[in-house]
Amino acid sequence: MGYTTLLTIIENNICIITINRPDKLNALNKDVFSELDNAIDEVIKNPEIKSAIITGSGAKAFVAGADITEFSGLNKEQAMALAQRGHDVFFKIENSPKPIVAAVNGFALGGGCELAMACHFRLCSENAKFGQPEVNLGLIPGYGGTQRLTQLVGKGKSMELQMTGNMVDANEALQLGLVNHVTAADSLLQKTKDILQVIHAKAPVAVGKIIECINTAVVNRGNESGYKKEVAAFGECFITEDMKEGTAAFLEKRKAVFTGK
Ligand code: COA
Repeated sequence: MGYTTLLTIIENNICIITINRPDKLNALNKDVFSELDNAIDEVIKNPEIKSAIITGSGAKAFVAGADITEFSGLNKEQAMALAQRGHDVFFKIENSPKPIVAAVNGFALGGGCELAMACHFRLCSENAKFGQPEVNLGLIPGYGGTQRLTQLVGKGKSMELQMTGNMVDANEALQLGLVNHVTAADSLLQKTKDILQVIHAKAPVAVGKIIECINTAVVNRGNESGYKKEVAAFGECFITEDMKEGTAAFLEKRKAVFTGK
């Protein structure tokens, strides 16, 4: 389909979308977002496609987060627009009437963990690691993570993970309910495809209604308070000295020193 940051292939009615920036650990930049937006539109409207898998290129990372190089120089409004763009694309995934499953093949950090959580469910390889490390940058998750991680693992664990920025490995992710299955790296895609083939044999309208009803049960809808607050709070972080220090420290490969300003 002519993408530059994604690889897509349709195989047995499953569209496999691979985020393909392995030298940057598949970090989500503007191009990835606009191509992912288009790819999800294609999944929804193409009758040959019954479901989709989102995965990452290479053996190391699913997605290591939003592309931090795009953060520098953003003002509060631009940061809020960046977060809102992420919300819009991830809501499109979450509300797709066809199943979209994350096959997490390595680091799923920040926006990568948020992308995986926007999918209907998740499988991961044994080397996968999940986390919301934005606090290390003087930031908060901006693509729905404050809401979806809380929905998936509960308030206490979500608080701890987001305030410490610590990562969890595949087995802990399984215990927490963040992923449904852990596999060897070389069986991850096959196991994901096998589950989707089971779903393909079911009534598509019923599958779509299950997605809609479960989302209604657990999702605080996009125009409601939690997600809105996250966009505003993400923007507010961008006018702090600590955010400038945190992102500069990452890009300069040194430890950040925060002052609370
Ligand atoms: N945005 C932009 N570039 C990123 C990135 C991100 N989120 N994550 C990784 N990269 C880049 C690195 O800058 C590096 O680029 P370079 O080779 O041009 O210097 C390349 O990807 C490889 O990453 P590197 O940090 O060298 O790999 P590592 O094995 O030492 O560490 C991680 C892996 C995932 C622990 C580390 O890359 C990391 O902490 N990434 C950021 C995670 C994060 O904070 N995400 C939330 C963003 S809001």
